[in-house]
Amino acid sequence: MQSNVVSLPLTEFKLNKIIEQQAQVFKYDEAEQQFITLLYLENLDKKLAAQPEISVNFERAIAHAIEIAYKGESGDNDAAHLFLQRVLYRINRINLFWYDDLRHYTNERSYYLQKIRNQIEEVWQQWEISQIDVEALQKLDAQQALIERGERDLDPYLSKDGRYIREEMTEAGYRHLLAIASFDGLVEASRLSRILGGAANEVQCTLVRVLLEEYGNGRLSRKHSTFFAQMLAEFGMNTEPEGYFDIVPWEVLASINHNFLLTECKRYFLRYNGGLTYFEIVGPSIYKNYLTAAQRLKLSDAAMGYWELHIREDERHGRWMLDDVALPLVDMYPDEAWQIVLGYDQEKFMADRAGAAMVRSIRSIC
Ligand SMILES: [Fe+2]
Ligand SMILES: [Fe+2]
Repeated sequence: MQSNVVSLPLTEFKLNKIIEQQAQVFKYDEAEQQFITLLYLENLDKKLAAQPEISVNFERAIAHAIEIAYKGESGDNDAAHLFLQRVLYRINRINLFWYDDLRHYTNERSYYLQKIRNQIEEVWQQWEISQIDVEALQKLDAQQALIERGERDLDPYLSKDGRYIREEMTEAGYRHLLAIASFDGLVEASRLSRILGGAANEVQCTLVRVLLEEYGNGRLSRKHSTFFAQMLAEFGMNTEPEGYFDIVPWEVLASINHNFLLTECKRYFLRYNGGLTYFEIVGPSIYKNYLTAAQRLKLSDAAMGYWELHIREDERHGRWMLDDVALPLVDMYPDEAWQIVLGYDQEKFMADRAGAAMVRSIRSIC
């Protein structure tokens, strides 16, 4: 029987393209599984030297995805970005400890994993930076630029997405938001811990103070991630870190991977601190949207506790970051101070992109 739904038949070309794209998505999935097997293989580097064929499909998928995501090749752009960011995340996450099977860390020093990470990061970072006018940033007065940005982001205008969250998002949407945000919320500030060691000064001590507050001053019940877990528990949701990995959009993963890069490389210390300054300053305005949604939906106090806490604490963290970290770093590194502004602007750019992806994901399920 003929369907009368499709009024225009697909051309053979379009049909082939769709089939090809679906096949590629499927292959990314397979390639990721292959990568997970490699990740946990004892003596990975030695085994790869003896049997290089065990990584061939995976590497082909990486090369293919890079062409599509960053070099303008046609194909499923989102699937390519997602695959690359997931692979990168699986490598980066080994920098943290997850209280799991110690064998999961067997390849933490593997040359092969470093090679794959560098291969993706190099082209990805070029693509990211090409979206920012670095030359213009270098001409700014860094101190003035940071103060102006700080004022702007403390109380930004309400965006269309922000209004949607406040006024329209359903309870199912709120749960979806929690699921995606839990990916960072349940381990929040972990990456900050990676930049704290080293010479002592006022900047370092301020960063430690921020970390201590994020970590509930060493009391699990006051740790910010505990408040996040309570919000999830209120809905009977999974409170395990990474429990919702499979629904995290690539844009959110990119922000997290970028953060890993900046914290693991001391060369990017200034950029990271610029980014953290933005993150702490803008936090309250974003959390106010989430809190307004939760209040409109008449949810319990525990289902919105993390937002309330951050509206109070991040106002202080934002001030500390600007006055006691970012601006003193401008004085300490006058010739490189533009990097603090770059870190700030790039964090905003990537956070806005991640936020928009999150709202698209919420809208798609409601
Ligand atoms: Fe926090
Ligand atoms: Fe904070």
